[in-house]
Amino acid sequence: MLLPKDPGGPGTPKSCVRMTKKPKKPTSSIRAAITGVHGYVPPDVLTNAELARMVDTSDEWIVERTGIKERHILKGKGLGTSHMGAEAVRGLLKKTGTDPGDVDLLICATTTPDFVFPSTANLICDMADIRGIGSFDVQAACSGFVYALTIAAQFIEGGAYRKIVVVGADKMSSIIDYTDRATCVLFGDGAGAVLVEPSRKYGILDTLIASDGAGMKHLHQKAGGSRMPPTAETVAKRLHYVHQEGAAVYKFAIARMADVATELMARNHLTKDSIDWLVPHQANRRIIEATAERIGLPANRVMVTINKYGNTTAATIPLCLWDYEQKLKAGDRLLLAAFGGGFTWGGVYMTWAYDTPAARSDSKAGEGSRTKGERKGLAVRLAAIARAPFALRAAFPAFLPRRS
Ligand code: ACO
Repeated sequence: MLLPKDPGGPGTPKSCVRMTKKPKKPTSSIRAAITGVHGYVPPDVLTNAELARMVDTSDEWIVERTGIKERHILKGKGLGTSHMGAEAVRGLLKKTGTDPGDVDLLICATTTPDFVFPSTANLICDMADIRGIGSFDVQAACSGFVYALTIAAQFIEGGAYRKIVVVGADKMSSIIDYTDRATCVLFGDGAGAVLVEPSRKYGILDTLIASDGAGMKHLHQKAGGSRMPPTAETVAKRLHYVHQEGAAVYKFAIARMADVATELMARNHLTKDSIDWLVPHQANRRIIEATAERIGLPANRVMVTINKYGNTTAATIPLCLWDYEQKLKAGDRLLLAAFGGGFTWGGVYMTWAYDTPAARSDSKAGEGSRTKGERKGLAVRLAAIARAPFALRAAFPAFLPRRS
């Protein structure tokens, strides 16, 4: 299907973009299902107030134009994206009771790898004691997690792999110019990881990935790659930071996020009432709201974490799933949609595979994200167990064998 012309405006690419029209035909009855999720954000928080002391901006402007209140920043000498990815993966393995030796493949989506080589996936495996398996990085900017999940689904549906870890992780603070008010307020650091396993009942029903390299000029890092290797001059000219023409990218992001969502809905015969959750990439609250509005979804069915994490690039979608995990039920229909540098964009339509454990062993930073109501609910269930140990089964249904 040829989509309408690009949103236009000076300097925007004129090419039309082709999407795959056909829904994905299942090649087997096995689907790839997310059976666990975990996240990590570093403990250091950078607030809007602090940014307002660094550049000419204000809390008011940032909240009104982006929806961001604060973001987490990874500090500490020698700590790269792999540090956060490994934290998320170790937590995921612990939480799902997965032996590192049972993982068949690890894919890491990132735009801020620790090194050009080896891959960050490779490093995360080592740090999480996962040995001898295939691991590789996927580079699709903010759409990276959707791309990586799409790849993982092929390996599961093909039948050869049974446990794949997909990580989305970015240390955006390593490529952000903290003297540029137009970009430094947007990004944060973080990582999320999911376990993907075969299921006959739940899982990924359709995927869509797309790109348009003509969008490069609006959003890229000018130096540091093979086209312009690092020199003293590139450093002096601050060419190793994110270059973004915000207004142009904004138009494309709004159009493509909505395109992804409507395309996946159309080809799977979905209406707004048949979607339980929109899981959008978190670049700007206004983009999220415009996407939800285009498909008619009310705000209470849209995952939003941008207020506290900012744009964590490949990590936004798994961090959303981690944050909202408590609210998800087996069978919930989720629509994931992402847009990022490249340009790249993509989406996944899936059903959630499990009822969420009431208690989860999150990192300290994550504990702050549990709501008061959730903490109270947990306390009530723990008190019930203390009174009657047999209540364990009812209080923690997740301890029942998982449905597959
Ligand atoms: N504080 C105060 N004023 C600011 C700030 C700031 N932090 N940043 C920009 N401004 C000013 C500009 O200088 C401009 O002033 P001027 O009119 O005097 O020139 C004015 O605000 C408006 O600037 P715009 O860029 O038009 O602001 P806009 O409303 O578009 O918001 C933003 C900017 C938030 C960057 C928005 O364009 C956006 O969200 N873009 C899309 C980001 C995105 O989706 N990126 C893709 C994913 S990222 C990835 O893949 C790595």
